[in-house]
Amino acid sequence: MRIDVLTLFPGLFPGPLAESIPGRALASGAASLQAHDLRDWGLGRHRSVDDYPYGGGAGMLLRPEPVMEALDAVAPRDAGGLRILLDPGGTRFDQSVARRLADEPHLVLVCPRYEGIDDRVRSVIDLELSIGDYVLSGGEIPALVVIDAVLRLLPGVIDEASPEDESFATGLLEYPQYTRPAEYRGLRVPDVLLSGHHGEVERWRRAQALERTRRVRPDLLSQD
Ligand SMILES: C[S@@+](CC[C@H](N)C(=O)[O-])C[C@H]1O[C@@H](n2cnc3c(N)ncnc32)[C@H](O)[C@@H]1O
Repeated sequence: MRIDVLTLFPGLFPGPLAESIPGRALASGAASLQAHDLRDWGLGRHRSVDDYPYGGGAGMLLRPEPVMEALDAVAPRDAGGLRILLDPGGTRFDQSVARRLADEPHLVLVCPRYEGIDDRVRSVIDLELSIGDYVLSGGEIPALVVIDAVLRLLPGVIDEASPEDESFATGLLEYPQYTRPAEYRGLRVPDVLLSGHHGEVERWRRAQALERTRRVRPDLLSQD
């Protein structure tokens, strides 16, 4: 998979994606990641990228030209990359979206700053994504979140069974897990996990996943 990020802060990439599982995904060649400085497409001597909103209002907006020209250069329409705009008003990013994106050969993530972006840019975007109902200062952290979630789903990046077992993969939260020691500060690992009975362990895990989901995220059980 190829991933391009359009940002005013290319130094934020790969950032945390250089470590651990995403770091291995990038080092192994399962994916490539390149951050492009939107200022390279800025206007005039000062490489200006922002301006005041028509009609007034607080703050500045990212102008359309730097973003649209960067998209033309990095991901021309006929090359088929999926153009994603990070935006609080976008589709809520979740594990099913991550799975869909993991099947794409080329993702292009646009990270606005300021009060957002000139609305005309949306006309050349394929998908708008929000990582939750709160406002961050820019699209870079949301882009890092999206990329991390996608990289771990690429074939061969982690143990094949793990992504299928994790929270949300089955529509449920993950069951409780334990490692050694079997008892710590009076807290014992459930006997069933020490029993060696594979079938019972599976039944217990399924029941625990259901119980935990019902208790803390009942909304997941009412989704289709
Ligand atoms: C300060 S925010 C702009 C918020 C915008 N004025 C609004 O009210 O929707 C700047 C940029 O950060 C990014 N951003 C902030 N929160 C986000 C979220 N929850 N999900 C995705 N992107 C977000 C978006 O790219 C946004 O354009």
